[in-house]
Amino acid sequence: MRGPWPMLAYRVRYVGGPGEISQKYIDIIHKLQVKTFEGEDVASKRRKKAECHWWVVYADGEPVGFGGLQLFNYFKPKFGFIFLTGVLKEHQGKGIKKKIVRCMEKKLRSLGITRLVSYASYWNLPSANSLLSMGYKLYKPSDPDWGMKGAYFLRKEL
Ligand SMILES: CC(C)(COP(=O)(O)OP(=O)(O)OC[C@H]1O[C@@H](n2cnc3c(N)ncnc32)[C@H](O)[C@@H]1OP(=O)(O)O)[C@@H](O)C(=O)NCCC(=O)NCCS
Repeated sequence: MRGPWPMLAYRVRYVGGPGEISQKYIDIIHKLQVKTFEGEDVASKRRKKAECHWWVVYADGEPVGFGGLQLFNYFKPKFGFIFLTGVLKEHQGKGIKKKIVRCMEKKLRSLGITRLVSYASYWNLPSANSLLSMGYKLYKPSDPDWGMKGAYFLRKEL
């Protein structure tokens, strides 16, 4: 959806990794999650959240989006997984998710990890299209129990 702020510059800030994110950013992310995942149980996955690297996107000093990246270091090859992304409705369709994912890719490369994996529910076309336009490819996970049912899996070699 197009918002009324066409000239806004969006700034993505890395706000912390596993075990180091402050309560201030946990609260900001929680509020954004409540707004962007309307009606979903946002308290779930609490333990996994603590294992993620997090980014918050700002427009004029106001938080408008967020993203969390989980590392799967015990797989071969190691990979990163897009745990959550959310962008406030008024700011959607302006490439904010792509900005967050670029930061995730950079973080992974700095850690020597060269694969990023995600999934999108079959109905979530903006989520899938954002990744497809960045060169992500659809694939079938080798473990059918991995992830959620009825979702498209996407990945990119970085
Ligand atoms: C999914 C979400 C994070 C995408 O954020 P965003 O910043 O708007 O995404 P982007 O602007 O980077 O990309 C959106 C893409 O979808 C496309 N798109 C937008 N609306 C669409 C629609 N109704 N149908 C198909 N494609 C659509 C855009 O054209 C864009 O494509 P492009 O990359 O080829 O230009 C955002 O919609 C959101 O917060 N949704 C609610 C929470 C959610 O579902 N999160 C994802 C699951 S973790």
